[in-house]
Amino acid sequence: MIKNTLKSILVMGLTTSSLWAGAEAGKSAYVTCSACHSADGQGLAIGDKKMAPSLTASSIVNGDPSLLALVILKGIKSEGSNYMGMMAPLEAVYQDDAKFADLLTYVRSSFGNKSAAVTVEQATQFRAKWADRKTPVSRVELEKLAK
Ligand code: HEC
Repeated sequence: MIKNTLKSILVMGLTTSSLWAGAEAGKSAYVTCSACHSADGQGLAIGDKKMAPSLTASSIVNGDPSLLALVILKGIKSEGSNYMGMMAPLEAVYQDDAKFADLLTYVRSSFGNKSAAVTVEQATQFRAKWADRKTPVSRVELEKLAK
């Protein structure tokens, strides 16, 4: 009885919080990324190698959100990194600005990250900002852009 009451209070609390809906949408938008970065954001381990780096404490994830958007939309140029996967351009998966904003917010607020949410308006701006760009971004270029 008490257990059920507590449960319904908890469920009510979760469903009435607007943050919850966004977090759920973000989590499902992240499924594509989890193939390499894993559900916990730490990078899927294959033997002694990893498919992709950890997204915790990443300066790209937690820095200028337009650069996080750039990495996801256009990919990272593969220049002999130690990872088994490749950061391919994922523009085709995130054509919807609301879904893209949910994804960016989810990554920036999960896995121990505590960076600000990204609005749909920002997602629209970031997409426009990088619209003419055709090639994946290099690490050197990312460092320059971050300054
Ligand atoms: C097919 C595998 C794969 C998928 C899918 C993938 N990534 Fe990656 N990601 C990588 C690899 C590999 C790197 C490292 C690239 C390099 O340095 O060469 C990377 C790098 C990154 C980085 C840079 C991290 C840092 O601090 O250096 C971010 C941010 C990132 N990915 C986010 C995402 C997000 C968000 C998604 C889903 C929308 C995603 N990735 C999907 C493989 C993947």
